[in-house]
Amino acid sequence: MITRYRIRSMSQTQLHIRQMTLDDIDLAMTLKDQVGWNQTRDDIRRLVEYEPEGCFIAEFEGVPVGTVSTTSYGTKVAWIGMMLVLPEYRRRGIARRLMQTSIDYLRERNVTCIKLDATPLGQPLYEQLGFHAEWDFQRWEREGENVATFPLDGELSSALIAMDETAFGADRSRWLNSVASGCRVVATQSSYGMLRPGSVATYLGPVVSENSSQAASMIGEMLTTAEGRVFWDIPTGNSVAESLAAQHGLQPVRQLLRMWSGDANVAGRPELQFALLDPTTG
Ligand SMILES: CC(C)(COP(=O)(O)OP(=O)(O)OC[C@H]1O[C@@H](n2cnc3c(N)ncnc32)[C@H](O)[C@@H]1OP(=O)(O)O)[C@@H](O)C(=O)NCCC(=O)NCCS
Repeated sequence: MITRYRIRSMSQTQLHIRQMTLDDIDLAMTLKDQVGWNQTRDDIRRLVEYEPEGCFIAEFEGVPVGTVSTTSYGTKVAWIGMMLVLPEYRRRGIARRLMQTSIDYLRERNVTCIKLDATPLGQPLYEQLGFHAEWDFQRWEREGENVATFPLDGELSSALIAMDETAFGADRSRWLNSVASGCRVVATQSSYGMLRPGSVATYLGPVVSENSSQAASMIGEMLTTAEGRVFWDIPTGNSVAESLAAQHGLQPVRQLLRMWSGDANVAGRPELQFALLDPTTG
């Protein structure tokens, strides 16, 4: 069933928010390409398949101009991602409407903590909507002409999924398994890492480990596989990850802020996260 969210302050002919479906993958790719994001068609397909009623498109006077996604990890925590509005349609309240639609959707499903990773452009709006700062992280990048290709055959053991729950703060196994099926997974008994295809760069992450020297050797091996351009999101202050990134020729290129809203934060243990899953889903 398609739900139409009615917009009160703009007339319906101007703006409406509708659900994103699998038929919108090309459209979502076109929109995100205009801001240079890294998602692939498979990433967007996975988002819509995982949360089929919780991804939305904003249309202004019939023109698709913005997107947002939600990704729920049970009712404990959910992520809001893919929040973008085309530059020429900004500062008219479109992102606010997309955010409110997502928040209403998640609250209707009894999600108690909503989180997101904010760019400096999005942060003021999220603060107005009641989101609090948690910690910041940096996008590190290694420049390169090409984006690497590698075998995509990942799988995670139940022991590693349990360790991930401690690090992240919630059970995200269904989403992790979906992501793992489309990437390269490297794992030991107490560490795992993923190397994922991207449309502009290979993405290193998530990497979760209880043992920093194991994490370091795993990351070294993955970076050797990934020739070319690489992105890696590192919680600020994870000195092991930061010095590894520098050794492998990556540099910090931008800062983002993890934010939460709800009765209480679901914090997890960020010191076990050597690379984040991604800013769209945590
Ligand atoms: C961040 C982003 C989604 C905001 O989209 P937007 O549609 O411009 O956001 P809104 O219009 O709802 O709100 C933005 C500002 O416009 C103001 N605004 C809202 N309606 C307005 C109107 N009718 N006239 C003028 N300003 C208005 C809001 O108060 C807000 O101002 P503030 O930031 O000074 O408080 C957009 O800039 C974007 O896509 N950026 C690139 C991608 C990105 O960084 N996404 C965020 C990922 S976390």
